[in-house]
Amino acid sequence: MQEHFGISYFNLANILLGITLVVLFIRYLWLFYFSRPVTPVSWENALKTGNITARLQKMERRYRDRQRFFAWWLHIGQLNRDRVPGAFVELGVYKGDSAAVLHAMDPGRPLHLFDTFSGFPAGDLLVESGEAATYTPDNFADTSVDSVLKNISGNHNIIIHQGYFPDTVSGFVSPVALVNMDLDLYNPTKAGLEFFYPLLSPGGIIFIHDYNYKWPGIIRAVDDFMTTIPENLIHLPDIDGTVMIIRNK
Ligand SMILES: C[S@@+](CC[C@H](N)C(=O)[O-])C[C@H]1O[C@@H](n2cnc3c(N)ncnc32)[C@H](O)[C@@H]1O
Repeated sequence: MQEHFGISYFNLANILLGITLVVLFIRYLWLFYFSRPVTPVSWENALKTGNITARLQKMERRYRDRQRFFAWWLHIGQLNRDRVPGAFVELGVYKGDSAAVLHAMDPGRPLHLFDTFSGFPAGDLLVESGEAATYTPDNFADTSVDSVLKNISGNHNIIIHQGYFPDTVSGFVSPVALVNMDLDLYNPTKAGLEFFYPLLSPGGIIFIHDYNYKWPGIIRAVDDFMTTIPENLIHLPDIDGTVMIIRNK
């Protein structure tokens, strides 16, 4: 067997492999203890006191954006402590991933879901710039009402409004405690703010996803709307830049 400094190549390879594994293990421990994403202390406490369902715990472990997840959870807790009345609404549902989380956080609230469930409306894409200008009506089309309901596996409190928003709002008069807007486009975001802000209970919240430089239509719709109301915009440090409006009491 060939040797290098009196050590066979086989033993040398084993030593290098051993060193690599030790380094990777130390790195893993370091990241595990010092780089874990922040978990709110109230979530840790709720876990200890058995106040988080097994389903919601599983969602938390899998959800891509922890800041977004915990922002919903903390604010839904606040809505309930303040007894803010009203339904939950999501505009832009796609496969129902965020809707499933919102429903699991408060299954007692009616959850109204607005989407075409067949992709972006072609007309709305015409006015877009930024990331949204690269979309076609085929994007987000691989979904259906049935698959969304299955994904949410919720109770009778899920109400589907299928079709072009805002055409699907007729007859909607319920007070609203929380709106999660995730439409990606200027036209429905503008329409969503104009329709749902007046229905928002005092203390109620609107979350608007994707308020960042890649989505100029969202920034424009939100900034224009903010000039018409007394509240300030609140920024969340989540991945895609969610902003919030909390209706004054
Ligand atoms: C980014 S996806 C929503 C993602 C979802 N909230 C989640 O986190 O899994 C955007 C959705 O908005 C819907 N959408 C956009 N404009 C719409 C409009 N005018 N009417 C109905 N749905 C619309 C699209 O069909 C698409 O499903």
